[in-house]
Amino acid sequence: MRKVFLVALAVLMLLPLTGAFAGGEKDDGVVTIGANIYSFQDNFMNGVIKPEMERYSSELGVKLDIVDSEGQQAKLNDQVDVFITKGVDVLAINLVDPASAASIIAKAKAADIPLILFNKEATEAGAMGAYDKVWYVGTNSAESGIIQGEMMVADWNANSDWDKNGDGTVQYVMLKGEPGHPDAEARTIESVKAFTDAGISVDELALEADPNWSTAHGNDKMAIWLTSAFGKDIELVICNNDGMAFGAINALKAANVQLPIYSVDALAQALQHIADKELNGTVLNDGVNQARATLDLALNAAMGKGAVDGTSWVLDTDGTKAVRVPYVAVTPLNFEDFR
Ligand code: BGC
Ligand code: CA
Repeated sequence: MRKVFLVALAVLMLLPLTGAFAGGEKDDGVVTIGANIYSFQDNFMNGVIKPEMERYSSELGVKLDIVDSEGQQAKLNDQVDVFITKGVDVLAINLVDPASAASIIAKAKAADIPLILFNKEATEAGAMGAYDKVWYVGTNSAESGIIQGEMMVADWNANSDWDKNGDGTVQYVMLKGEPGHPDAEARTIESVKAFTDAGISVDELALEADPNWSTAHGNDKMAIWLTSAFGKDIELVICNNDGMAFGAINALKAANVQLPIYSVDALAQALQHIADKELNGTVLNDGVNQARATLDLALNAAMGKGAVDGTSWVLDTDGTKAVRVPYVAVTPLNFEDFR
């Protein structure tokens, strides 16, 4: 009996902390951010963005409630409903489906809670314009593909033996990220366009996309390609992110094949692969600054201030209400600077 009473007392004491009765920062003096990551399985989101959001939230003195959407947009919709019921002061949302922003924006608007979208930019036309308290933090997606492409063109021109069949054309395979994700779409197009812009013809031997941008996908597809009819013809491996490149590198090693390979993100493991001469280049996707910008905008919005007031972030002037953190080329010449 006494035990039951103690448990009940403990539950009662915890209730205000769960936010069930908290009415936001105006009431309890602490800004609470309801946040998610589209999938805790994602190398970049889980390895860079999430830890920096956790670290930086305590530096800012805000409460961060961060959940795993497990790659399911329906799950994220429910999580947003729960955050709104709990009375969070602001939402920081990593869409699962970039084409499902409008419904999240509508929920935030109906509850009059500011919303920061990050990492996956809304793709529905007009979605961002539907609410005056929604902003985006990410990158200029095309920039990563352009930088990756420029690196590959420079290296291709400097290594005539990479053109194995000597036909002046790049026979490449592409490991693409999530179809419909602005980063994946832009990287896939821009990386190849760099060759054609430089007057070098290209021949796509294979392309496989993975909504999870995963190492397993990179490993499986690369292993299959190497043993396929065109396996011996592959001259270049282009990856939309490091995670998939890690798998491809593994498959290349297992088959004892060496091919030029490039990716995007500049995770610690990628820098090690560059040091080991297993990766030719990557592009820094500055998740640390994306995480900080997300929380800076969230805090400002929760306090009713201008989104970038008192920060060094700059909003795009193109009407997308976005802070875009720049990408940086990472090569065998400069990778030590990023360790
Ligand atoms: C990163 C990928 C990641 C994706 C998740 C991209 O910006 O480069 O590694 O999987 O975001 O949305
Ligand atoms: Ca060739």
